[in-house]
Amino acid sequence: MERDRVFARKQRRIKPFAFNREVAKVFDDMLVRSVPLYRESIYRQAGLACRFYQAGTRMYDLGCSHGNLGQLICEQFQHQRFTLVGVDTSWPMLEKYQQRLSRFVSEGSIDLVCGSMEDIKIENASVVVVNLTLQFLDAARRDDLVCRIFSGLLPGGILLLMEKTVHPDAFGNALEQEFYRQFKRENGYSDLEISQKRDALEKVLVPDTLETHFRRLKKADFSFVDVWLKWFNFSAILAVKAPCGKVFLDKSKKF
Ligand SMILES: C[S@@+](CC[C@H](N)C(=O)[O-])C[C@H]1O[C@@H](n2cnc3c(N)ncnc32)[C@H](O)[C@@H]1O
Repeated sequence: MERDRVFARKQRRIKPFAFNREVAKVFDDMLVRSVPLYRESIYRQAGLACRFYQAGTRMYDLGCSHGNLGQLICEQFQHQRFTLVGVDTSWPMLEKYQQRLSRFVSEGSIDLVCGSMEDIKIENASVVVVNLTLQFLDAARRDDLVCRIFSGLLPGGILLLMEKTVHPDAFGNALEQEFYRQFKRENGYSDLEISQKRDALEKVLVPDTLETHFRRLKKADFSFVDVWLKWFNFSAILAVKAPCGKVFLDKSKKF
């Protein structure tokens, strides 16, 4: 795994963060050193996808990057057939995903689409995953996207949403930021790297509060909305379209 040194050298002018070729090359290292509990969160999301997937339907991975979730889905579905649509705006990420696809062993089919998740028609879906991606969409357009996801889901379908969040209260925010900076330092990032990346992400990654996520999901009409994983300023949410118990209780398999 190539080491992330994208922000290691002092830059005269910090350009807005982009998922370009330089980032795609070191993305796995960036993810595990910048996202607390990244491996656990994505592994569990693949498990939830497997548990709630309805045969003959589609799964969508919006902001799929270079396919970490796709790989875990292939492993967890084993011999079960599935259809997964991976969507991303970054061509360098999708190129990496495409190269990895041939090494995935599964009975499933994975289609990759280069484009914005806003332009994709979501239909016949039982699982939609938006892992660390809604935060990059213009805040004014997030409600619409979540409503469209809800409409494209079948009864009993789920949305798995993980995001960096911001605390509504100054004390809570200061505490979360301090512990997040400490996490990055412990993972070998220098103070220069931390501050340059933060500047590059400003206006590009705009986090919502957890309350805003809940309000949006409830407004879209999800009937069950819960945080299943939280680490200071990161939260993973499970939202279910009614009837909640339908798929989960009907499926005979257990974790
Ligand atoms: C932090 S990464 C997501 C990580 C990935 N979901 C995972 O679990 O490994 C965000 C991804 O979303 C993509 N992205 C940003 N805006 C997007 C949009 N409007 N539609 C689709 N993809 C988008 C970026 O190119 C990037 O690959």
